[in-house]
Amino acid sequence: MESLKRTKIKALLQMEPGVEVLAKGWVRTKRGNKQVKFIALNDGSTINNIQIVANTELFDEELIKRITTGASLAVKGDLVESQGSGQAVEIQAKEIEVLGECDPMRFPLQKKDTTLEFLRSVAHMRLRTNTFGAVLRIRNAMAFAIHKFFNEKGFVYLHTPLITESDAEGAGDMFQVTTMDLKNIPLDKKGNVDFSKDFFGKKTSLTVSGQLEGELGATAVGEIYTFGPTFRAENSNTPRHLAEFWMIEPEMAFYDINDNMALAEEFVKYLVQYALDNCMDDLQFLNDKYDDGLIERMRSVLGIAFQKVTYTEAVEILEKAIADGVKFEYPVHWGTDFQSEHERYLVEKHFQKPVILIDFPKDIKAFYMKQNPDGRTVRGMDVLFPKIGEIIGGSEREADLEKLETRIDELGMSRKNLEWYIDTRRYGSVPHSGFGLGFERLLLFVTGMANIRDVIPFPRTPKNAEF
Ligand code: 4AD
Ligand code: MG
Repeated sequence: MESLKRTKIKALLQMEPGVEVLAKGWVRTKRGNKQVKFIALNDGSTINNIQIVANTELFDEELIKRITTGASLAVKGDLVESQGSGQAVEIQAKEIEVLGECDPMRFPLQKKDTTLEFLRSVAHMRLRTNTFGAVLRIRNAMAFAIHKFFNEKGFVYLHTPLITESDAEGAGDMFQVTTMDLKNIPLDKKGNVDFSKDFFGKKTSLTVSGQLEGELGATAVGEIYTFGPTFRAENSNTPRHLAEFWMIEPEMAFYDINDNMALAEEFVKYLVQYALDNCMDDLQFLNDKYDDGLIERMRSVLGIAFQKVTYTEAVEILEKAIADGVKFEYPVHWGTDFQSEHERYLVEKHFQKPVILIDFPKDIKAFYMKQNPDGRTVRGMDVLFPKIGEIIGGSEREADLEKLETRIDELGMSRKNLEWYIDTRRYGSVPHSGFGLGFERLLLFVTGMANIRDVIPFPRTPKNAEF
């Protein structure tokens, strides 16, 4: 059998009949009668299965019995025009080898329960399902498209550290990194933890954002982007939060907030278009199975300009909606951060298109955002999407040394730990901007999945780090 080279099922399904082929994959289903068995084989290269037709006269009864859902096979045979509907070609099997058996009594995907919730409890095996095959292929296509987009624009892919001393977002929800013996923590004379004895000689954590180092890169080579894991120990058990997620953070010298908004809009539209152009089989499957508005919603964000609106205007819109009888769980007034329900109202009900919110109260945003002349707002921008809410957060950065230092002091942050960052404003400071796209939030939008745990292979959330 091995003298023949394996062809992936995606390619087989596009080939002309009349050739001998070798296929390998996992059995999705087996049906048929005494004379003939039909085996649906999938190898992950496509959502579609190839049908194997096995004439039982040619094979041992024992072998046929070992072909069960989940088992892995190598099949040699002739690619022929399919008799049945639903596929153009099928394989008339001549040799079948069971590479790995799969006990039907124990295989978790054999169970009737195939809800997404159940599949999360067998996340190590759920990758074998059609749903997760589709999600993984779309995830891969989006990662590739992100690199392609920035590469074509001449951005430099910058690798920023995962272990860091700084809390870039100032939210304080960081995972600590230590090699200290937790049962025997060294203390200093005052009784505080003596981090000088720790591995790095200081207190360190997993990064919540690569932005601060990204700014060092942008103010050196002009335009950079990061694309890596990000960690947040916020205890939010929502369908939109992970403790470990991936973020893409472009940072551009000489960009003001308008340039920044234009890039963000071009970027997400490019990614949605790329998915439509390259992942249609998988999108159609997810559209049919989980979300019949998926493909239409994706198309709907492409043709139109995103709506720009200031935070202050948005508060007025929401207050008017409340006065008109719209009910929200959380209150809205100037100075509070919007909840996802407010963001979705603006996008889905009021404007009916993606929204870019700008000019936020400075107290709800990070220290690095450029301060507006009004003294109370900053030049931040959040891109809001239907069904998701915030998908991108970014800003123009405060480029003025004095204003930046004053803000750091006002917030009671340590200037000492940030001297390296502040140096960008001391030596050849330039206007610059950037943003962060949550990779899994993007994937929620382009897969139609409702829960962020279902767009990352191995989700990390409060009380869950299995697999
Ligand atoms: O708005 P955030 O916190 O912005 C930053 O981290 C900036 N440093 C970005 C920048 O300007 N370079 O996070 C950016 C995006 C959010 O809009 C959201 O899409 C995603 O990251 N995000 C999360 N995704 C999943 N789980 C979480 N816990 C997330 N927190 C943020
Ligand atoms: Mg944000």
